[in-house]
Amino acid sequence: MDPRTNPYAPGAGTKPPALVGRDRQVESFDILLERLERGYAERSMIITGLRGVGKTVLLDVFKENADARGWASIEWEVEKSAPFAQKIAVLARRALVQIAPKNRWGEALRDAASVLRSFSLTVRADGSVTAGLDVDARRGSADSGSLSDDLGDLFVALSKAAKEHGIGVVLLLDEIQYLTRDELEALIAALHRCARRSLPLALVGAGLPQIPRLAGETKSYSERLFRFVHIGALDVADARDALLLPAHEQGCDFEDAAIDLIVEFTEGYPYFLQEYGRVAWDEAAVSPITATDVRAIRPLVEAGLDEGFFRVRAERTTEMELRYLLAMAELGPQPHRASEVAERLGRTTPQAGPIRSRLIDKGLLYTPSYALAAFTVPQFDRYMLRTHGELRREEK
Ligand SMILES: Nc1ncnc2c1ncn2[C@@H]1O[C@H](COP(=O)(O)OP(=O)(O)O)[C@@H](O)[C@H]1O
Ligand SMILES: [Mg+2]
Repeated sequence: MDPRTNPYAPGAGTKPPALVGRDRQVESFDILLERLERGYAERSMIITGLRGVGKTVLLDVFKENADARGWASIEWEVEKSAPFAQKIAVLARRALVQIAPKNRWGEALRDAASVLRSFSLTVRADGSVTAGLDVDARRGSADSGSLSDDLGDLFVALSKAAKEHGIGVVLLLDEIQYLTRDELEALIAALHRCARRSLPLALVGAGLPQIPRLAGETKSYSERLFRFVHIGALDVADARDALLLPAHEQGCDFEDAAIDLIVEFTEGYPYFLQEYGRVAWDEAAVSPITATDVRAIRPLVEAGLDEGFFRVRAERTTEMELRYLLAMAELGPQPHRASEVAERLGRTTPQAGPIRSRLIDKGLLYTPSYALAAFTVPQFDRYMLRTHGELRREEK
C-alpha cells in the first residue's frame, strides 16, 4: 500500500498513531497535577519498563498535558555521567521563564532567580545559566555545598514562585537509571521538602526496572513520595487497537487472522507492533492485509527490528559481553541466576561477575531480584540467537 500514508511509527520516543492502553497512567498524572494545584499532597511517579514499551512516549504525553494546564514543565533525558547539578541549573532557568516572562516577575520569581544564581555559583554552572537574570545570589540559600540541601532550596523557591502564579513545576526525567545514587538521593530529598510544604512540584521519572529497588534503598520515604508504575506489553485488545485504529482511520483493514499473527509474534510490545504494522502496510498490495501477507514479511520485520531496535543496544559491547548475552539467550528469555550463566560460559561465578556488572551498567541487563539478571530489551534472546550464533561455533 502507499508508503506515503503509512501511519505506523517505530522509533525511540516516536509518537504512535494511536496511544492505547495507557489511560490509567495519563489519568494518574492528571490527578497528580490537579491535586498539587489545589494544595493537596500527592505522590510523584516513577515509570519503569523494558525498552520499547513506551516510557518516553508517555513522558511526552505528560508534558503536553502539563503544558495544556499552563504548568512549567522541563524534560531531561539523563545521560550517563552527565554533569547533574549544572544540568538542573539550566532546567531551572527554563522553568523560571516558563512560569512568567521576566518583565512580569513578582517577588517570588525574583527570589527564585536569586536562589538559582546562588545554586549556579555553588555548583559552578556555566555563567550563561543566570546571565540576564539581573539578580544577586541569595546568601544562605543553595550555597551549603550539600547537593540535597541546595537542590531543596532551589526546588522550594521555584515551586513557591509557580504557586504564586496558580501553577506548578513538573520535572520529567527520562532514563533515570543513569542517575547516580547521590543524585537520586538529592532529588528525592529535594522533592520531599516541597511535598512537606504542599508546594506544587512534581517529579516524574522513567527508566529501566531496577529503579524502584534503588530508590527504596536510597531513602526509606521514597515509597511515600512516589507511585511506582510499571508499564509493559499491551494486552491483546489494546495490541489489536494499536494496529487497527490507525488503519481504520484511513479506511484500511487487517484480516482477523493477520492481526492474531502479529499480536502473537510481537507479544504486544509497542515497538514491535509499530514495526510490524509499518512493514505490513508497505508490503501488502491491497487492504485488507491478510495472514499470508503477515507471514511472508516476517523476515523483513525481523531485519527491521535488528537494524532499528536491537543492534543499537548491542553496539557498545565487547565480544566477551556478547558471549555472556548469548549464554543467557540460550538459557531462555526469563531471568537467570549468575551461577547458571557462568557455568554455561565455562567460568566460575566470580570470574563472570565483572562481565555481568558491565552489562547491567550498560543498561542491557537488570536485576529483578538478588542473584538474578534479565534482559532489559524484550525478545533480546531471539535476537542473540538469530544474529550471534557464530560466537558459539567459534568457541568449539
Ligand atoms: N501506548 C502505545 N501504543 C502504541 N504504540 C506505542 C505506545 N507507546 C509507545 N508506542 C510505540 O512504541 C515505540 C517505543 O516507544 P518509546 O516511548 O520509545 O519506548 P521506551 O521509551 O519505553 O523505550 C515507539 O515506536 C512508539 O510509537
Ligand atoms: Mg525511552
